[in-house]
Amino acid sequence: MNESDFIFKNKISLEGFSEWISPSNIALIKYWGKQKNQIPKNPSLSFTLSKSTTKTKVTYGPRLNNKDDFSLDFLFNGKPEPSFVPKIEMFLNRIVRYIPYIKNHHFKIESQNSFPHSSGIASSASSMSSISLGILEVEKKYNTSMTRDFFLKKASFLARLGSGSASRSIYGPISVWGKNSSYKDSSDYYAVDIGNRVNEVFLKYQNTILLVDKSKKKISSTKGHELMETNPYAFERFNQAKKNLKEFKKALSSGDIDNFIKIVESEALSLHGLMLTSNPYFILFKPETLSIINKIWDFRNETKCPICFTLDAGANVHLLYPIEYKKIALKFIKENLLVFCQNGKYINDMVGLGSKKNK
Ligand code: DP6
Repeated sequence: MNESDFIFKNKISLEGFSEWISPSNIALIKYWGKQKNQIPKNPSLSFTLSKSTTKTKVTYGPRLNNKDDFSLDFLFNGKPEPSFVPKIEMFLNRIVRYIPYIKNHHFKIESQNSFPHSSGIASSASSMSSISLGILEVEKKYNTSMTRDFFLKKASFLARLGSGSASRSIYGPISVWGKNSSYKDSSDYYAVDIGNRVNEVFLKYQNTILLVDKSKKKISSTKGHELMETNPYAFERFNQAKKNLKEFKKALSSGDIDNFIKIVESEALSLHGLMLTSNPYFILFKPETLSIINKIWDFRNETKCPICFTLDAGANVHLLYPIEYKKIALKFIKENLLVFCQNGKYINDMVGLGSKKNK
């Protein structure tokens, strides 16, 4: 589908509300570097999570005096959260071309995260996807013949404009975003669900998130993407991601966990390597992150338990393992890794099924 297929032209004026729950996701093939209009420089692939979610209620009604700016109330955990408003306004400015009715409606957006706001877990994927779904309900209410497929595609398209990784949170258990030759139906504009093209071992994969550093990141992902424009390794990185995705597709469909681990860990370290080689350079991992990685490698060598790690743009460590190894992995984590977490905190999550409507 083309970008123009997502432009809604009719003038509407409706009243109502909807509530969606959107999960966070963890990228295994990383998106790091973008072009104008939130077009990624390389394809990415993620596991959608199940417990780390944002619930958003969007209430809308016609605006009486149709001014040129947006009319928006945003509440986070029941309270006004002015620090989020600029990001939401930027998002509305980007999506108004595709859903012009946001100018003649007043929106009240109320969000709540299932995970602590200051946990160092990025909430932009879950929040932007849940907001997109709620706002798009207005169009669906008018166009009752809109298919579910189009609704989700357009929600992913809009979510991408809020935060690239949010495009992948619409779907579960595994999403791919960014045009590539490995998945023919892939697009730069929205994510696609590839859950039915993977071995069943990955459909119940576990993700334990070790909270190493809960403070706000010093460099935002958006800034990190921008620094790829001058990173001397950028060209090779974008090729590496495409090659990794091709190999990863094979591992995913055959259930080859050894190759899954090799690619996942290499992607995580490559992401942080790009940060180390940016100008200005920066480091987001902490000494505890490296201690955890070394412990995982030792444990894997000794026990052959296929536990591996990936990293987000931060110091927290996401451990990944098949559900059959849950008991042994949790024992290892509790006995050896919690000492590296801030206040011993961690979250046990797993692959999930994507966004769902609550009301
Ligand atoms: C390291 O989606 O947060 O998590 O599009 O600027 O909002 P913006 O960036 P964002 O970047 C995510 C970066 C990443 C990798 C990934 O999720 O693929």
